[in-house]
Amino acid sequence: MPSVLITGSGRGIGVELARQYAAADWTVYATLRNTDRAAALLAIQGDVKVLELDVADPESITTLAGRMAGTPIDLLINNAGIYGPRGLGLGGLSYGDWEQVLAVNTLGPVRMVEAFLEHLRAGEQKKIAAITSKMGSIAENTSGANYIYRSSKAALNATMKSVALDLKGEGFSVAIIHPGWVRTDMGGPNALIEPRQSVQGMRRVIEAATPATTGRFYNYDGTEIPW
Ligand SMILES: NC(=O)c1ccc[n+]([C@@H]2O[C@H](COP(=O)([O-])OP(=O)(O)OC[C@H]3O[C@@H](n4cnc5c(N)ncnc54)[C@H](OP(=O)(O)O)[C@@H]3O)[C@@H](O)[C@H]2O)c1
Repeated sequence: MPSVLITGSGRGIGVELARQYAAADWTVYATLRNTDRAAALLAIQGDVKVLELDVADPESITTLAGRMAGTPIDLLINNAGIYGPRGLGLGGLSYGDWEQVLAVNTLGPVRMVEAFLEHLRAGEQKKIAAITSKMGSIAENTSGANYIYRSSKAALNATMKSVALDLKGEGFSVAIIHPGWVRTDMGGPNALIEPRQSVQGMRRVIEAATPATTGRFYNYDGTEIPW
């Protein structure tokens, strides 16, 4: 059975990713910051292993990678993300919060790729998915503001594009995916789609990913988003 390692899988899109991959008979390494909050994961039927991981903490990443040494991973999904404070404009930006958002949304995913590269090389599928946001598209930024979140996802996109190109020769596929506007704690109650629909779409995008199409920026429905 293939295996997937998911970050931030205790709630929102992450727990739905764990649910759907488990239902499809994958081995799911479901990671979250606080394993005391794993009730939703523990309720999932299937081969789900709950593991502690804080992607903003380099030691937490290397500890988990060490614990999992020798375990092949087919697919890494960098899902964990934070928005940071909302409504801050020029003159009122919070640089401390900005650094924290970059640590989770940008540095975390790159550290994960570095730390788990050998596990992924040992896997058959050799796939990486980054859950980004359309807010990280510079081409589609027509409304300004949101400096912190936008820059963290634009930088995530830039780094994952390099990961895609650097690992293409080894047969890796990297998919950079906007999940849609999804009803979660982050997306809020007015969001357009449920996690179920978002994850169904993203799973199709990930399944279709090949080294020939690596490093593209997709919407959850498979259409491409301009950088
Ligand atoms: N919802 C949307 O409309 C939307 C749109 C575009 C992009 N996205 C992206 O989709 C991804 C998932 O978002 P969501 O809507 O599911 O958000 P969410 O409901 O707020 O969940 C965020 C998840 O990230 C985890 N997380 C935060 N900081 C972490 C850290 N340092 N280490 C490990 N995990 C951490 C959270 O864990 P805790 O429970 O421990 O806090 C939680 O599981 C994010 O990357 C987000 O930017 C979402």
